[in-house]
Parts: sequence; structure tokens; C-alpha cells
Amino acid sequence: SRLPDILGPDARILIVANRLPVTAKHNGDDWELAPSSGGLVSALQGVTGVELMWIGWPGASVPDKQDQTIITDKLKAERCIPVFLDEEVVDQYYTGYCNNILWPLFHYMGLPQDYKFKKAKDFKSQLEAYEKANQMFSNTVCSIYKEEDIVWCHDYHLMMLPMFLKKIHSNMKVGWFLHTPFPSSELYRALPNRRDLLKAVLESDLIGFHTYDYARHFVSACTSLLGLESYLEGVKFEGRIVKIEAFPIGIDCSKFKHALELPGVQEKIDEFRRLFAERKVMLGVDRFDMIKGLLQKVLAFEKFLEENMHMKEKVVLLQIAVPTRSEVPEYQKLASQVHELVARVNGRFGTLKTTPIHHLDQSLDFDTLCALYAVTDVALVTSLRDGMNLVSYEYVACQESKKGVLILSEFAGAAQSLGAGAIIVNPWNVADVAKSINDALHMSADKREEWHRHNYKLVSEHSAQDWAEDYVCELHNTGTANKTLLQI
Ligand code: G6P
Repeated sequence: SRLPDILGPDARILIVANRLPVTAKHNGDDWELAPSSGGLVSALQGVTGVELMWIGWPGASVPDKQDQTIITDKLKAERCIPVFLDEEVVDQYYTGYCNNILWPLFHYMGLPQDYKFKKAKDFKSQLEAYEKANQMFSNTVCSIYKEEDIVWCHDYHLMMLPMFLKKIHSNMKVGWFLHTPFPSSELYRALPNRRDLLKAVLESDLIGFHTYDYARHFVSACTSLLGLESYLEGVKFEGRIVKIEAFPIGIDCSKFKHALELPGVQEKIDEFRRLFAERKVMLGVDRFDMIKGLLQKVLAFEKFLEENMHMKEKVVLLQIAVPTRSEVPEYQKLASQVHELVARVNGRFGTLKTTPIHHLDQSLDFDTLCALYAVTDVALVTSLRDGMNLVSYEYVACQESKKGVLILSEFAGAAQSLGAGAIIVNPWNVADVAKSINDALHMSADKREEWHRHNYKLVSEHSAQDWAEDYVCELHNTGTANKTLLQI
């Protein structure tokens, strides 16, 4: 790792994200920690050579002080510091402002028609809770901060955090990274508090996105809504250049490679091979979220079956839909719609021997997931919008022997990196996705080999560790770069 040399021996990286890499779960009288899902956790696992501390919400409401102490102690062993948010704040901030307002807006789904729903109150209450939560994160960071530390804030939950941190420590190195798309400024401008949010983020020293387009949209929002001047490096805000840059995330490819060598995983691979011996398997692995285009995926598969009746016993769509944010009404509605559609397709095209769609509302353990990635013929990613989509990378990492085909939505950030080795689709064009399924199932071995080589090179050479190191080094260097720029 380059980090110890660059940052110095005493520096720590404080990772601040809404969700900690582990989630606290009540188990009888005790509390247990379970791994959280999400790309950030796995991406940062690969960072070595420097002390990493996590600050975040433990994922449960813990009103009791004694329970808080138990959890804090358990988290300490994982290098995590909890920010305990009470239930009301979680409802208004996390469920409300983050997941019902920012998340859909950033994924081009607009703002909700009605800000009020079962638990969330009006926009103002949700925004106040958002500020309050960001302030609480800031207090926790400040309570452990030392001068040499680098503070790296993550995602749309914490857009006000840089401002709160800088108010207390103006010299703190603060970076912010968005893991979702940043939408066109024409869409972003609909947000009632659009300016305040931008200004709060602009207190950072470095602002990072997964793709160049997201960075460009952010710069446009700054120029059009705040009247800032833009430069090659970023925008000028309150007399200094705030750097804005694209840093595409990656995965730790070797973790998957090693897993595939484990006897337990090999056994699972054999087991799945036997299970699906007579059929081609198309795999979908997604959080059960509207951005993943699950309805569009099922509709496309239905169309494919309609047009290829002879395939109905020869192919299966295996969809792992990992439950997520089930408190938000939109997510509940989506689950019913998808279940209904899956039932329709299975009813129409199922036979006494087979069921065309095998849909699970579950998360799988890592070994099982690796085995599935390895044995399946096609991976189908139909995101309507997706910051990056690391499932596509993970699939490639596990396909060294099979060389399956990736069908990838043009609206996933990953399409910018894996575009030349995948069938790129517009998930709204159901007929085209159906045709792509057919093309993928019939692709020649030579072409699969060629595409896989291309993808594998990219996935294995752009590791999560590189991503984190590039970002942290750039953040570390920001002060010096600023001085030079402003002298020009
Ligand atoms: C996305 C977001 C992450 C989030 C993850 C899981 O990947 O970018 O910030 O942690 O989804 O969602 P959740 O709401 O369960 O944390």
C-alpha cells in the first residue's frame, strides 16, 4: 500500500457512512453483529497499511443506554464507532429524506407526489431530521478526530456533514463521495433545498463520483444554481477550488478467486451443476429496489419465452432479490408487483417439470453467491439507474472457467467500464432485452472468451484498493494543489 508513505505513520482514515459494515441485531437478551450488505463495505475491506475507523449507524434503534454500551463495546472490536439515531430520526431522516426523497431523485424517479406517508411527516420535518442526523455524525467524528486524520464521508445520507465538520475544524481534510448517480441538474433543481445541500457538500476538499457524467452534472448544478465558476479541476467556492473528480470503484477480485478454490464452494458448484444440468441459467442478483428494473427484467424474460417457446424447459431465470428498506411504502408496492408478474410468467410458461423463474426474496451467503456466479450462463443487470453496479464486476470475477455473458443496462455506471465486453441494453426496451437474452444464450465460445478476457482484465486491474488509495491520496494532496491553482 502507498498510503503509509503518503499519509505518515500516525494518520488514520475515518470512514463516515450512514450504515456501518456490521449491523446490530437483537438476539434474546444479547446483541449480535451481522455483516451489512453494500458495495462500500467490501470495497474498503481491501484497504491495508493504514488504520481505518468507521463511524455510522448500527442499523437498529437502541433506546436503552445499557444496550448502547454493549453494542459500542462489540463494535469497538470491529473498529466501528456507532451513531445512535432514535426511531423518530430514523423515520424522518433515513426512511424519509434519504430513501423517499434523495434516492428516487438521484435515480431519475423524481420527487414524491406527497411527502407525507405513514411515518414521515412533511418535507420540513424530514429535512430537519436530516440536518440533525448529519450534525450527530459530525459530533461523533469530532469526538475521536486527531489532526493527522483524513475524514472520508460517503453517500447521499451525509451531504451536510462536510459543512458541520469544517465549522468545527476548518483545517480538517474532508472528502465526500457519492455512490449513486448525480442526476442532470435539470432534475436536481426540483429539490426544494437544492442550494443549501450543494453549499454544504462544497465545504469538502474533494468531491468524488463513480463516473465522469455524474461529476459533470454536479458541476452544472453548481454553476447554474449557485452561479459558481467551473474549472478543469472543479468549481470555485468561497475563494478556493473544490476539486471534483471521477473515481470509478472496483472490487477485490482475489477474494472471489480464492473463494472459488475452497472445497465448500466447489461442492456447491457441483451441486448447482447437477440441479441445473438440463437448463441454461440466467442470474440476477439485486437489492430489491426499484432502481434495479426488476419488473422490466421479468417482462423481457416473458417476451423472450413468448418468442422462443421451445426454450421454456431449457432456461431458467434465477433472481436473488435481497430485501432492503422494507419500511418505505414504495418498496412494499414494488415487491407485490414483482411477485405478481413472476407468478404470471411461471403460470404461463411453467410445465410439470420446470418453473421458468426461480425468485428468492433473500440474501445469500458469500460462498453460495460465488458458486452461483461461477455456474450461471448469463448475468442480467437491468438497472434503470445505478451508481456503479458491482454485481456485474463480481460476476466477471467468478467466470474464469465458464466465460458467461453479461447483459448490462446502459444506465449502470459499470456500462462505462464494461461496455466493450457486454451486451449493453436499454432496460425500458423490453423487446431489445428479450432479443439480447436470446443472443447471449447463443453466443459463440470464441466471442464469449474474447469478451470475458476484456472484462476480467478490467475488473482484476481496477481493484477496490486502488480506488480507495487513489481517492485518499488525492484528498491528502488537495491543500497543496489549491494553493498552486489560485496563484495561476
Ligand atoms: C446503496 C447506497 C448505500 C447503501 C446501500 C444499502 O448501495 O449507495 O449507501 O448503504 O445501498 O442500502 P441501505 O439503505 O440498506 O443502507
